[in-house]
Amino acid sequence: MDFNRVYNAYFSPSGSTKKITSAVASVISDTITSIDFLNGPKTELSGIDKNDVLIIGMPVFAGRIPQVCVPYIKNLKGTNTPAVALVVYGNRAYGDALLELCDLLDEQGFRVIGAGAFVAEHSLFKQVAHGRPDNEDFSQIIRFASVCSQKLEEFEGFSEQLSIKGSRPYSPPRKISIGPKTVSKCSDCGVCAKLCPVGAIDYRDPFKTDIDKCISCTACIAACPIGARSFRGFKYNTAEKVFIKKCSSRIEPEWFT
Ligand SMILES: Cc1cc2nc3c(=O)[nH]c(=O)nc-3n(C[C@H](O)[C@H](O)[C@H](O)COP(=O)(O)O)c2cc1C
Repeated sequence: MDFNRVYNAYFSPSGSTKKITSAVASVISDTITSIDFLNGPKTELSGIDKNDVLIIGMPVFAGRIPQVCVPYIKNLKGTNTPAVALVVYGNRAYGDALLELCDLLDEQGFRVIGAGAFVAEHSLFKQVAHGRPDNEDFSQIIRFASVCSQKLEEFEGFSEQLSIKGSRPYSPPRKISIGPKTVSKCSDCGVCAKLCPVGAIDYRDPFKTDIDKCISCTACIAACPIGARSFRGFKYNTAEKVFIKKCSSRIEPEWFT
């Protein structure tokens, strides 16, 4: 199959999902159109046709894809368009997230030819899976991408339904009840408020975060140019200790092609 456009779409508050989907995309094509869902819905993606390819990556939030992204994915319209689906998670579990992403793509007219769950540093508890994806991960990511690339070469508009790990109905979405805090060195630049995908940070006063809106995605922490936002406090420190203990054994990537 000769591709027209290859899209690399991702939601990546801390950057690991982008790193992994971009590595996959670079094996599939030299010319990639990147779509960053952190900047909101993408209306221009409604015209994807069967000669295009969609590579899409989502981080796992409590065993699901971030629910804020569901309307964005529902805005994508494929025409029997081949897609590669990826979820990236922090060495705990990916739950129903990959199945959910593949189901959504299927409903939107895409044919998932490859799906993978890869591990990266846990964005809430950075000591968990620290340093991942590492060289071993990347060699698996490249192997997965090469298999997908081969399948795309042979793609003729039909693809068998892949059997993806996960269960339906999916586990209910769960809100993480720890929110980032701002410290006094904050310079009021407003970068965090501008980037927040759910508008939880007050533009006029970045010390104010609406904890009911906040999805703890970590975008504000990653984006702050002076490191003025972080998770802290007794509740967070206690949860971190539990996670470090519970999620210290290495989990290897899994994929379905
Ligand atoms: C709110 C939230 C919930 C998360 N839930 C899970 C989870 O259920 N399982 C897991 O292994 N990792 C979980 N993680 C870790 C992320 O999936 C992981 O760090 C991912 O690489 C983040 O992607 P990003 O760097 O592109 O933002 C969670 C992270 C956040 C912020």
